[in-house]
Amino acid sequence: MNWHRKHLLDIQSLSTEEIVTILDTARAFKAVGERAIKKVPALRGKTVVNLFIEPSTRTRISFELAAKRLTADIINFTTDGSSLRKGESLKDTARNLEALNADIIIIRHQAAGAPHFLSRFLKGSVVNAGDGAHAHPTQALLDVFTIREKKGDVKGLKVTILGDILYSRVARSNIWALLKLGAEVTLCGPSTLVPKAFEDLGCRVTWNVEEAIADADIINLLRIQHERQRKTMFPSLGEYNNLFGLTKARLARTKPDSLIMHPGPINRGVEIDGEIADCNRSVIMDQVTNGLAVRMAVLFLVNGGKGPQDVGGTKSEI
Ligand code: CP
Repeated sequence: MNWHRKHLLDIQSLSTEEIVTILDTARAFKAVGERAIKKVPALRGKTVVNLFIEPSTRTRISFELAAKRLTADIINFTTDGSSLRKGESLKDTARNLEALNADIIIIRHQAAGAPHFLSRFLKGSVVNAGDGAHAHPTQALLDVFTIREKKGDVKGLKVTILGDILYSRVARSNIWALLKLGAEVTLCGPSTLVPKAFEDLGCRVTWNVEEAIADADIINLLRIQHERQRKTMFPSLGEYNNLFGLTKARLARTKPDSLIMHPGPINRGVEIDGEIADCNRSVIMDQVTNGLAVRMAVLFLVNGGKGPQDVGGTKSEI
């Protein structure tokens, strides 16, 4: 299918075919990244703004590198040093960026709905890089891209998402992407952080970690999102590690070919033992690498690219 959307705001509103188009386009860009000259002129003359109101390492840097690989001009905007500190609103900030000819605004914001809000009045494209506990679409896309790359297909796989589901935009976007692609999704963690209501989305909810990981093909671990929790949801980090952390003893009771995933940042010794994060079943660094190809695909598509068939013709920039 041909892509036709101007924005990427969430996964929920995408069809399965649209998700597959992004993944196939990302695969084509990953092949471009294996050429001697990795830069293509697909966004030459375009201006991309990284409007990051919340901290980020992986997402911000990979969007910046993606824009550079596509030959766009990229501006990194962070709150510190900006006029947001003098009380300027998000709307006025975005309108000023547009007045400076921003073609694509990539926004991370602590408020759920901030990207949707900008998309209602900006003429350019808006890409959601994480909004509150609502959505993190490019994280989910790079996660399913990595699963597809390692396992061949997502359909029929058993995927367990273990950790702080309630406050996680990564969990919500992953749930939508995985279900649309035909995976069986199990959610697990403390009952305070994994409400039964998630079953309404089509997931299985269990608070029994041994049961959740025993037959999983993929175990995706999430950190505890202290910055979004309004009260203590469990007694201590040590207790969390005892009851829900992926320890070596627990890993021994999982399928030997199951993959260990984590969106980062990792809290070693809390949701995952440090050695497991670095073991040969961990694909955490592959996820980061794949984030670049996925974000190149997203920028390419919202800028008017139609799909992977358009990437083949992009000559490397000498
Ligand atoms: N996974 C993720 O969103 O990481 P950053 O917060 O570092 O971007």
